[in-house]
Amino acid sequence: MEKKLQKIKKQITQCTKCELSKTRNNSVPGKGNFKSDVIFVGEAPGKNEDMKGEPFIGIAGKKLSIALENAGITRDDVYITNIVKCRPPKNRVPTITERDTCKNYLKKEIEIIKPKIICILGNTAFNSLLNGKEIIKFRGKIVRKNNQLYFLTIHPAATIYNQKLINVLKKDMKKLFKLIEEIKDKKEIKINIEYTS
Ligand code: URA
Repeated sequence: MEKKLQKIKKQITQCTKCELSKTRNNSVPGKGNFKSDVIFVGEAPGKNEDMKGEPFIGIAGKKLSIALENAGITRDDVYITNIVKCRPPKNRVPTITERDTCKNYLKKEIEIIKPKIICILGNTAFNSLLNGKEIIKFRGKIVRKNNQLYFLTIHPAATIYNQKLINVLKKDMKKLFKLIEEIKDKKEIKINIEYTS
């Protein structure tokens, strides 16, 4: 399993499939525990991530760590990745074409790790994976699509300018990890939104 992930990592590092490869310093593959029950999916790397080649290591990453630690989880316990693996110039939202070009990498990360649940962080991931809009209205909810569970929450960057939202993120992380325990205990899970395709 680790070898397969290493292979994807290498492909991401060398990828030149879209224009973002021309402006990046480093591409940013997912990072963390390949045995994790959950994969966190953000939008795209920012400046710090682009400099170091690691996801969520800037201020937004710090907010994510705070919320995880509040739920008794460390970053090393989980796997963290993004919809798009290279930084869009000036941190603009990645285009549909860029997301489409990059989507196979995330698909493979998910296939290899086989998470019990995917935690969607913010609107870009919500839109890309579930065609959703306005995550603030759906946060805290559990979705099932093609037999894969998803948990919806806000993007950690949203808590930087709105301090009140850190409590929302903390609350959601507690709910997520309680839910994971329930899934492992084979308890019945209440699905809020069921996607039929
Ligand atoms: N924001 C994201 O969506 N991903 C990162 O890796 C960093 C900031």
